[in-house]
Amino acid sequence: MVSRVIPVDKFDLVIFGGTGDLARRKILPGLHRRYLAGQMPEGAQIVGAARAVLDDQGYRDMVREAITEFGDAEDQDEAKLAAFLEHVQYLPIDAMGEKGWEKLAKMIRPGMIHAYYFSVGPSLFGELAERLQLYGMADENCRIVVEKPFGRDLESARELNKVLAAHFDESQIYRIDHYLGKETVQNLMAVRFANILFEPLWNAQYVDHIQITVAETVGVGGRGAYYDKSGAMRDMVQNHLMQLLCLIAMEPPSRFGPDEVRDEKLKVIRALEPVDPHHIVRGQYNADGKEQSYRDDAGDPKSLTESFIALKCHISNWRWSGTPFYIRTGKKLKARESEIVVVFKDAPHLIFGQSSGQHCNTLTIRLQPNEGMTLGVTIKDPGPGGMRLIDVPLDMTFAEALGEEGSDGPDAYERLIMDVMRGNQTLFMRGDEVEAAWGWTDPIIAGWEERGEVPKPYEVGSSGPEDAMMLMHRDGRRWREIKE
Ligand code: BG6
Repeated sequence: MVSRVIPVDKFDLVIFGGTGDLARRKILPGLHRRYLAGQMPEGAQIVGAARAVLDDQGYRDMVREAITEFGDAEDQDEAKLAAFLEHVQYLPIDAMGEKGWEKLAKMIRPGMIHAYYFSVGPSLFGELAERLQLYGMADENCRIVVEKPFGRDLESARELNKVLAAHFDESQIYRIDHYLGKETVQNLMAVRFANILFEPLWNAQYVDHIQITVAETVGVGGRGAYYDKSGAMRDMVQNHLMQLLCLIAMEPPSRFGPDEVRDEKLKVIRALEPVDPHHIVRGQYNADGKEQSYRDDAGDPKSLTESFIALKCHISNWRWSGTPFYIRTGKKLKARESEIVVVFKDAPHLIFGQSSGQHCNTLTIRLQPNEGMTLGVTIKDPGPGGMRLIDVPLDMTFAEALGEEGSDGPDAYERLIMDVMRGNQTLFMRGDEVEAAWGWTDPIIAGWEERGEVPKPYEVGSSGPEDAMMLMHRDGRRWREIKE
């Protein structure tokens, strides 16, 4: 059998912000898992770089703790962990001064892949880029990885793109949207473009509407200060939900190549119509006796930031004209559940008479948890009593269908970091894509700010504000229930 793990070449990976939350939660445990899977080559070097004054041993202790806390329990083999830590070094560095840079330049070995992970706030991107250039590390083969938020509006995103473009070519810049690294998100493309079954029906003629839900049970506690300046629109919709929308709505690319895929996604974003203010519902979770309200978590009793948003949008092109897309996301909802539902139109003529009821096909793609797909089909209700119809699910969870192999893949960060090393940008956002996404969200945000709109309250553990239900009911449709 062909190995499923494709080894990458030797690399030097520098993680700026190497002691930060993202490095501890995701990047370092992710690298450790890739090491255990045999994908990280012997001879690879990971350099944590940050302001803290630590030596290699002190940093390795921190990495060990992070892996114990955030890694998988089954991956905690002490000998292997010690072997992984041999690859890890630390360098105190001043992103805005000169300390550490000469030393870093000496640590970078010729003839390797060089990747610099900017796991820091965007205000430092320019400083880091400049110093990499100044100290001779920004050569044409290096790669830089940047995290969201990539700006907070079109203007700041343009500025960041400009700063990075002054030192690096677009082909060297890897903008992470971790949703694109999720197995099931990539599966959207496989389902659409590797099956003949769906594509002929995948358009306004046959699809009544599409729903995209990303519901979370967590609140914003601990990240209140950041989140209150973003809200659900900037934190989730401008990036993760728009990426899902693009993958569901885009035209088939000519091949699975970085620019072919990203060109098609960009066309979708550019075809998005401005959103009618009546088609937007923003919400904020209330306190419920046990848990704090959004405003308590955000530390601002007057905050107007949304922790929930639902909206209806339209894509003006031949494929989708007339088919609405409803999207919603929120914190402290009933369940953690991300799914996309494609609701097909009714059959054009029902031969069974009115008493057989109204039925339509649905395709539900569950992104997390319980990853899988369900095709809702209509069949005869068994037994005597005439021709009555019922809807039944053709249900498949990937874990059941694929067994252990299906549930043991790399997580989003692991996959994306290895893609950086392989030099594959397909699952990363291109600069023009990010700008186009802000270009669509900016006027929506500006609109509610000008109108001084107050988000609607909703109960912790609910499906969001009542008005979000109405958004669909008004159109004679309903959201699929968020199930506990
Ligand atoms: C992040 C957001 O990008 O994605 C968070 O900033 C959100 O607010 C998170 O909770 C959701 O990611 P996941 O992988 O848990 O669905």
